[in-house]
Amino acid sequence: MRTSQSSARRTTSVVTATTDSHAYPVRQFNLHGLEGISDRTLELHLKLYEGYVTQTNLLQAKIQELFADGEISEDERPAYSELKRRLGFEYNGMVLHELSFENLKQGGREPTPGSRFVTAAESSFESFDRWRSDFVNVGKLRGVGWAICYLDGSNGRLSNHWVTLHEGGNIAGFKPLLVLDVWEHAYLLDCGPAERGKYIDAFFANVCWDCVERRFPEGSRG
Ligand SMILES: [Fe+2]
Repeated sequence: MRTSQSSARRTTSVVTATTDSHAYPVRQFNLHGLEGISDRTLELHLKLYEGYVTQTNLLQAKIQELFADGEISEDERPAYSELKRRLGFEYNGMVLHELSFENLKQGGREPTPGSRFVTAAESSFESFDRWRSDFVNVGKLRGVGWAICYLDGSNGRLSNHWVTLHEGGNIAGFKPLLVLDVWEHAYLLDCGPAERGKYIDAFFANVCWDCVERRFPEGSRG
């Protein structure tokens, strides 16, 4: 009987996840024809991203279900704790993929001299090339994760950080401006496992700097 009730609740949560007005949609990205990153890699990567959206919505629905009465019983606590911990992984996986796809485009070019990003890079790192060198070296850290250039809105400085998996190392309150996925699935079809540097060069050939500029919050310093 317990099994049957719990199965019914699971079914409800799936329905809730797909009809919930707060459910996150799978965003569409018109990515193809990039330099050094094959269409096949992009196709598989976009499919993988959809999985993060699905899992985020499912976790939200399951947590809502457990918390329906406004309390978490001691019996529910292990499941609730696990769901909450997994949510950080899935949610950041969804959002970071969206940011990284968004800051790519076919026919990327160098950033415009005098743009907000270049100006912030020069004031934070002395030159754009020094900023780029730091970002590339973050991207080459061993392990799976992300290289992210953030804006510290309090002082307008750029700051490059490593994020382990999807959720370890994001800086609270910092604004992600440029996001690079360095999980192996992002490049293994196009470059060897030891060729992450080649993949990062390809990334820079496809950066949508206009998108990066739009990420500066209105009225922020930098
Ligand atoms: Fe990825």
